[in-house]
Amino acid sequence: MRGWVDKIKSVIIYDADKEFYAKVFPDSVQKIDLLRLRIMTHADLPAVLEIEKKNYLFPWEEDIFTDCFKAGYSCWVCEYDKKVLAYSLLSMAVGEAHILNISVDPAEQKQGIGRKMLEHLISIARGKAESVFLEVRPSNIHAIALYEDMGFNEIGIRKGYYPAEHGREDAIMLALQLF
Ligand SMILES: CC(C)(COP(=O)(O)OP(=O)(O)OC[C@H]1O[C@@H](n2cnc3c(N)ncnc32)[C@H](O)[C@@H]1OP(=O)(O)O)[C@@H](O)C(=O)NCCC(=O)NCCS
Repeated sequence: MRGWVDKIKSVIIYDADKEFYAKVFPDSVQKIDLLRLRIMTHADLPAVLEIEKKNYLFPWEEDIFTDCFKAGYSCWVCEYDKKVLAYSLLSMAVGEAHILNISVDPAEQKQGIGRKMLEHLISIARGKAESVFLEVRPSNIHAIALYEDMGFNEIGIRKGYYPAEHGREDAIMLALQLF
């Protein structure tokens, strides 16, 4: 029974109780409780790419996402009412987890979705990796505020890591120690 539940949880996370109450007492449940996190598939890519283009000046193309699938990375979407609102990707290798992308539709930001996805990625890494790493643009103050609030610390700078409108922009490297 436990293995079966773990298998389901490895592809989809949702709160069945809250979904039940939402049907019976709609006012008693908040949107954040009804979000579903599930493994990203090729069928999600049109919606994912649309959000990607809205959020980044230099968005990832489809082939980067398909390469992430092929590499076996942990790729997730967050959906509400069957609509993709956000997505995130995590790679894991030799005790190190790396958050490759975390992105919430601009119309859905500031509702706790980014934090929920980040918590989920950290929970996947916990027990398998010693640290979670990520890069962020120094100008991305909202993302940095979220990461620091979740316990990430600055560990260095990657010079000229990102393409920018004029040349390149550095990346701040952040790490979260898991144990
Ligand atoms: C960064 C991002 C993922 C955060 O997602 P989100 O769903 O908006 O964030 P949440 O609502 O969960 O907020 C979590 C925390 O982030 C910070 N934050 C997020 N948006 C903020 C804003 N507009 N103003 C100030 N702080 C903000 C706050 O610390 C917030 O905590 P609080 O709500 O307790 O104040 C989202 O803004 C995004 O997709 N940005 C574009 C893509 C991107 O830059 N991704 C990160 C690449 S490294």
